[in-house]
Amino acid sequence: MKPAVPTDAAKVRATADHALVDACTDELLAHSDSAATQPTGDEQEPARWWPNPGEDPLAEFADVTVSYAGVPAVRGVGFPVPAGSIVALIGPSGSGKSSLIRCMNRMNDLVPSARVDGTVLYRGANLYDSRVDAVEVRKRIGMVFQKPNPFPKSIYDNVAFGPRILSFRGDMDEMVERALRRASLWDEVRERLTSNAFGLSGGQQQRLVIARCLAVDPDVLLMDEPASALDPISTARIEDLMRELTPEVTIVIVTHNLQQAGRVSDFTAFLTVEAPSDGGAIAGQLVEFGPTESLFSRPSDERTEAYLSGKFG
Ligand SMILES: Nc1ncnc2c1ncn2[C@@H]1O[C@H](COP(=O)(O)OP(=O)(O)O)[C@@H](O)[C@H]1O
Ligand SMILES: [Mg+2]
Repeated sequence: MKPAVPTDAAKVRATADHALVDACTDELLAHSDSAATQPTGDEQEPARWWPNPGEDPLAEFADVTVSYAGVPAVRGVGFPVPAGSIVALIGPSGSGKSSLIRCMNRMNDLVPSARVDGTVLYRGANLYDSRVDAVEVRKRIGMVFQKPNPFPKSIYDNVAFGPRILSFRGDMDEMVERALRRASLWDEVRERLTSNAFGLSGGQQQRLVIARCLAVDPDVLLMDEPASALDPISTARIEDLMRELTPEVTIVIVTHNLQQAGRVSDFTAFLTVEAPSDGGAIAGQLVEFGPTESLFSRPSDERTEAYLSGKFG
């Protein structure tokens, strides 16, 4: 049977996004097999691998361009990610939001045609430095996608997954409970920890994926349209949860939902996709970045104003 031919750019993107989720899942699952055979240290906590703990901003994009097969998809982007905040990336489809958020855990490395130029500083160190081990980065900086991607394992094993591959030697039951409580899922699953994760509702699966990310005690969580496949109640729960997690966890979220960006985020980056003023090819670009409140109420660029008022996108 021939594969279905996608009819538009959105379908191409969705297919590419799903392939990426699968690649990311496969990478992690492959690591869980090899972790069991590796010698393990006897440290209590997974070692913090990131430099400069108090650094603010937590991350900073500087002149970042993401290209696929040599064609820039989003160009010359710079903005900070203040520590402890929620930063929303908004803008029309194809403006490069997903491409950018994936820079923060080197996930674009899993797309063979992708190339990232510029600098992504993470606690003062360049994530794209050749000495940085991208797999280590992805073990610790988790990502939540539009489609929940629990592993085909029990609820417990999903949450214990990250600590196990990082050779956590403490009390795993306690660790699992803590992560599930932080993801506000504990009360719903405490009686069924050994059941398969696929038996949960979509909203519960999404919170389980968040719990799985939290179990490695990350200081940043990446969310690419985490609620766009969920009903309004599940969406509200995810939004409440995001607020509860900060400021311990810094969150970067891509959302199509302007009200959501306005409700949950502290800072907003607005991207658009257009031909640059120097006459180059059409690509995503940053229009403005600022505190959400002022960007929404007094945008400094007329394109932002047009987008916020629903004139395009
Ligand atoms: N895996 C990929 N392979 C090739 N092109 C891609 C891939 N992912 C995204 N793109 C292209 O990069 C551009 C920006 O896409 P994306 O970052 O997904 O934007 P957004 O998340 O804002 O919708 C689009 O033109 C898209 O087709
Ligand atoms: Mg996207």
